Amino acid sequence: MLLARSPRDDQAVEFDRLSNIYDGLVGVSSVPVLQEGIRLVSLLALRNSRILDLSCGPGMEIPALAALVPGGEVVGVDLSAGMVVTAHERARREGVFNAAFVQADALNLPANFEGRFDLIFCCNSFHHYPDPLAALKEMRRVLSEDGKAIIIDPRLSQFFLATEPISKWGDPGFVGFYSPEEFHRLFLSANYDSFYWNEMLPWVGVSIGTK
Ligand SMILES: C[S@@+](CC[C@H](N)C(=O)[O-])C[C@H]1O[C@@H](n2cnc3c(N)ncnc32)[C@H](O)[C@@H]1O
Repeated sequence: MLLARSPRDDQAVEFDRLSNIYDGLVGVSSVPVLQEGIRLVSLLALRNSRILDLSCGPGMEIPALAALVPGGEVVGVDLSAGMVVTAHERARREGVFNAAFVQADALNLPANFEGRFDLIFCCNSFHHYPDPLAALKEMRRVLSEDGKAIIIDPRLSQFFLATEPISKWGDPGFVGFYSPEEFHRLFLSANYDSFYWNEMLPWVGVSIGTK
């Protein structure tokens, strides 16, 4: 489902331009992160879980996520129409039929998503959200009771602080990375019941908040 007009045109348009070439451009470097993320989801998902893949981009991970929940569903959401179309085409090409795709802003998800998801998978994207607390509150709103939000993103480090100008230049819509302590504070402020953080891969952290 696409919107008549993108909610944040400047950023979405940059990602629209990337949608067809993303796999070759940055997708290759995302593979180990996505693989680890999928492994983590496989430990938490049930056969009938409903997973929200928030900021799914071109949907490289959708077939694997959908295979984990044959009796459930994966909903891929992205701000960029181009990404949503690319992810949808990939899923159909790969014979995935328990996945749906919606263009939406992570900070303003559809009203009828409320309470509908057992897991949120948000990989390599949280650093794009202009208001991280609002995004976490919105994620909590769409989680079911005891649902979990999984955020995988580079952790703030001296290295990333030093290279931030390059990130801002090379990564459309880059806002910022967060330390484990900042994530903890944000999840608590967004009213999650519990919070867990771990370094999943070198430089890459996983935050898990339970509603
Ligand atoms: C680096 S890509 C990551 C894609 C995918 N999750 C992966 O790991 O391969 C970041 C994605 O975040 C999306 N995005 C940025 N801001 C967003 C927002 N406010 N709401 C929803 N998606 C957003 C972009 O359109 C882009 O597809």
